[in-house]
Amino acid sequence: MRYSTNTQSVLALETSCDESAVAIIRQDARQLEVLASEIASQIKEHSKWGGVVPEIASRKHLEALPFLLEKALSNSGKKIEDIDVIAATVAPGLAGALMIGSITARTLAAMYGKPFLGVHHLEGHLASVFLSDTDRHPNPPYLVLLVSGGHTELIQVFGAGIYKRVGRSHDDAAGEAFDKVARLLGLPYPGGPAIEQCGISGDPYRFSLPKGRVSNPEGGFYPYDFSFSGLKTAMLRLVERFEASGDEIPVKDLAASFENIVAEVLVERSLKCAIDQGLKTLVMVGGVAANKRLRRMMQDQALKSEIEIYLAPKTFCTDNAAMIGAAALLRLECKKLESSLELGISPRWPLEESGLLYQTPPPF
Ligand code: KG4
Ligand code: ZN
Repeated sequence: MRYSTNTQSVLALETSCDESAVAIIRQDARQLEVLASEIASQIKEHSKWGGVVPEIASRKHLEALPFLLEKALSNSGKKIEDIDVIAATVAPGLAGALMIGSITARTLAAMYGKPFLGVHHLEGHLASVFLSDTDRHPNPPYLVLLVSGGHTELIQVFGAGIYKRVGRSHDDAAGEAFDKVARLLGLPYPGGPAIEQCGISGDPYRFSLPKGRVSNPEGGFYPYDFSFSGLKTAMLRLVERFEASGDEIPVKDLAASFENIVAEVLVERSLKCAIDQGLKTLVMVGGVAANKRLRRMMQDQALKSEIEIYLAPKTFCTDNAAMIGAAALLRLECKKLESSLELGISPRWPLEESGLLYQTPPPF
């Protein structure tokens, strides 16, 4: 496949879970420009069932993609012939959902003779920080706190595509905890924005809540790991206590206190990890990174610890296709590589192995 030399544009598809998304982005020198970013959320469909229904997700992706493609092309002013590269999320995620984006992208790549790049969803989240419209970008090595509905991880980035996970949640991801606690408080899905909104006028210090440490069988605790199950149980006990007493449940104070303790845990452990590992730069990405209280706390505390902080732009924290396009362009920047059209999808695949997506024969 031939690549144009200077400016590169990519058409990217994201269908790993419950957002169908198509974006067109362009790279000029080191700057990424989002020409179009279209998202069709399926949240309403799934909230009726209390969680994501894989079968419905696949069907909705199939219905939405042609319209999103048309809208992205028309909003970007590009024709598909002008695009240099086609990319799609291929792992991890719901198998049927991933398949829809991947097969659409591979079909377009084959039809129009464009290179295809399969992208790891988490690498997409990591790349979202480069979508800020400033030219201030993090330089490796740096530490990333990736906080989403499926993951809560601390990842060291040594260079393009070179990662090491140094911390993780042993049970729920932070976003999952937001979603479950929101349901407990009678708030809608997704729980993160609902708790944020509800807690605005609440007292974040009214309830004392646990910070969830993970014991190391050899003694002490894992310093950079997370656990949110104890916190969830503590929230349940508080709600039960109010229900039993017949008092009105102080939903605003409960929401604010929960949000505050999650933010404190994420900030404290991330900064400790960065300092211990001698890293001067910290990046925060993923759906939960859209949370205002968390963003403010992270910025304030990083400043005090003399750690340079980079936050993904709020619009690109939750799932979107622009971040998938950004990850593809960053892969292309360091090496002129592409994925085999035989590359399939994988519901689980470690981020550290994402380089294998560009090997022939493909790993899956
Ligand atoms: O990154 P994302 O869109 O999907 C995954 O890859 O998981 O993250 C979705 C998660 C949901 O759990 C949602 O409740 C949470 O991000 N979230 C938030 C906020 N916006 C989304 N959590 C806290 N505050 C928010 N403002
Ligand atoms: Zn995601």
